[in-house]
Amino acid sequence: MPKLNEHYQNLKESYLFSEIAHRVAAYKDAHPDQKIIRLGIGDVTLPLTPLALKGLHEGVDAMASPDTFKGYGPEQGYQFLREAIAGYYARNGVTVDAGDIFISDGAKSDTGNISELFSQDNVILIPDPVYPVYVDSNIMGGKQITYLPGNAGNRFLPMPDPSLHADIIYLCSPNNPTGAVYSRQQLTEWVDYALREQAVILFDGAYEAFITDPDLPRSIYAIPGARQCAIEFGSLSKTAGFTGTRCGYTVVPKELVFPTSGGGELSLHAMWNRRQSTKFNGTSYIVQKGAAAVFTEEGMAQCQDHIRYYQENARMIADTLSRKNILFFGGVHSPYIWFRCPDGMESWEFFDYLLHQAQVVGTPGAGFGENGKNYFRLTSFGDHDSTREAMERLERLL
Ligand code: MLT
Repeated sequence: MPKLNEHYQNLKESYLFSEIAHRVAAYKDAHPDQKIIRLGIGDVTLPLTPLALKGLHEGVDAMASPDTFKGYGPEQGYQFLREAIAGYYARNGVTVDAGDIFISDGAKSDTGNISELFSQDNVILIPDPVYPVYVDSNIMGGKQITYLPGNAGNRFLPMPDPSLHADIIYLCSPNNPTGAVYSRQQLTEWVDYALREQAVILFDGAYEAFITDPDLPRSIYAIPGARQCAIEFGSLSKTAGFTGTRCGYTVVPKELVFPTSGGGELSLHAMWNRRQSTKFNGTSYIVQKGAAAVFTEEGMAQCQDHIRYYQENARMIADTLSRKNILFFGGVHSPYIWFRCPDGMESWEFFDYLLHQAQVVGTPGAGFGENGKNYFRLTSFGDHDSTREAMERLERLL
């Protein structure tokens, strides 16, 4: 009889977005004529940009001829894409070595899989509220988590407690779900703390392209010393509309070398390379061609047009909440708006209320952790008309 990984028993019964999809489907079945507006999961609605499509088409065409056909590719990703990403970092004033970049099918897989590199006896700091993948992947591995509370008092930007030791620290900025963004000064404090504690920061930068203020860091590597203490995750999902196309990347600097219990040392770069070569066969060539087009100057300019479109939705949502005097965070350098549920409601209660009374779907803050239980997240990834309509419904309801 197999012995099962019983740590799975410690997970919530279902993944947050599966639970939401399930509740919405049940409501839809019971009310087939009602028009539901979905501002729940952060899934994009605009099609891919012309240059991304051109890159994808070139990739497909290459598969049609024996001279250009591609079979298995490098597990780390094609050099042309690793260099395109390093070039994008450079245009944003950050130096990243193309050889430190690993291409993947998205930041969700990488932020989940990375925990395999760390043993069970680490002090793991994870903010609460947080993207559930960081928590669930550690629970699956039977690891203990120390939560870093985010709340209105710290504007959902928890800072290190110098009296507490940590080995692994998860940070996400711009933050999912709260939309809060760490300043340069705040990230410098985190990097200094990590260096002092010899900790590793796992920095999720999936939403960096939404930052419009040049003073806000778009990468942990904008902070001196970060190459000695941080791994960074990037994604094309929200930047370039690749939620369905799937492409992300992880930067693991070769500087990240730590002692082993036996007196030797191990490099996180070498370990991740070993892990990926064993368990991952690379992102498809076609997708990588599309991704490389995204990282050109013109490709990114087209993505920024899409991001501005979504930012207009965020502004509509923020205006509605402001008019209703509801406390909210995010929505400026982020596609997410995070607000306090009205009338002291708890977030699942508000989820059902909004779905049943206004046919609008959002994401209950409780799904992101204990500190989210009185908060609610809306995304700006809808189209203008449905976002406007959702806000009209919200305005009437609240
Ligand atoms: C979200 O809604 O939080 C994200 O879309 C989920 C994800 O990126 O996996």
